[in-house]
Amino acid sequence: MAESRPRVWVSQPLFDDIVDQLRAHCDVETTQAVTRYTSTDLAEKLASLEGALVTLNERIGAAEIARAPRLRAVANVGVGYNNLDTAALGAAGIAATNTPDVLTETTADLGFALLMATARRITEAEAFLRAGQWNTWSFTNLLGADLHGSTLGILGLGRIGQAIARRARGFGMRVLYHNRSPLDAKVEAELGASYVSFDDLLSGSDHLVLVVPYTPAAHHLIDAGALAKMKPTATLVNIARGGLVDEVALADALANGRLAGAGLDVFEGEPTVRPELLALKNVVLTPHIGSASLATRRAMVQLAVDNLLAALGFGPDAGRPPCLVNADALDAANAGGATAGDTKTTTIKR
Ligand code: GLV
Repeated sequence: MAESRPRVWVSQPLFDDIVDQLRAHCDVETTQAVTRYTSTDLAEKLASLEGALVTLNERIGAAEIARAPRLRAVANVGVGYNNLDTAALGAAGIAATNTPDVLTETTADLGFALLMATARRITEAEAFLRAGQWNTWSFTNLLGADLHGSTLGILGLGRIGQAIARRARGFGMRVLYHNRSPLDAKVEAELGASYVSFDDLLSGSDHLVLVVPYTPAAHHLIDAGALAKMKPTATLVNIARGGLVDEVALADALANGRLAGAGLDVFEGEPTVRPELLALKNVVLTPHIGSASLATRRAMVQLAVDNLLAALGFGPDAGRPPCLVNADALDAANAGGATAGDTKTTTIKR
């Protein structure tokens, strides 16, 4: 009897010509409309699938996979994967993957764009012009801060943080960073970046950019206390995840002259943005577009398709998805043996 083809679902409109590669091996369901799914919607969808290609909009954990005995792989189109409970997926024998590297430079570009726009008050200046307020050229209007010659703080000197540090060198900036532990001295020297404590990063930066992954432990890392340690002339840019920043405390600091400006691409409750932030002039707001260049978004979808096919046992990387993020949890589940009624057949090789 011929083996049935795996059923996979693509949760959002992506690029059809790339997604179509899945059809060589799988029965594929796609959607033409950007859709918000509830937990119940997702649980219903996943129940009959072997694989899913999802974006950061879809939160998938124990509840969503509870009725999905055949599900073997969830491929996230994004480098951050805090929308996936990777431990719960791994424990159920489901591979979880992400799309690192292909978006590094594009996201660093956006980080730098926000640094510049925030320091030089670009959107505020444009709004001023569009509102017809530019009646006479004023020497002292819309004064901002310099990037060149200033000190850039990078919280999270990973791939994207390092790409921002390389850009900062071109601007003659001094670069400070904080990670859980310092990087190799050779890497530091190449980037011209100096390791400092979290508090010294806050107090020493003229411009601070957040590039750390969001985890529950990093929730509100930038709270009222952290903001109080920053220079009142400083700017803060967040291109990682909204949950890193206490937005109420941030809006308060911005409204009361305790921080000069902020550039935000990510929000705690996105796509909802707090009215307190929307009301402020000294914030540059973009709708989570860090990786949004055509070439990079296409590369991310290609990598997610490659990951999904490999996790389902197809293609050159069959059984070895290039960007597996829950290897340990899968190993532990494999060591524990298959669960009763398990209909999964592919083992991830390591
Ligand atoms: C976007 O935020 C991503 O994680 O790729």
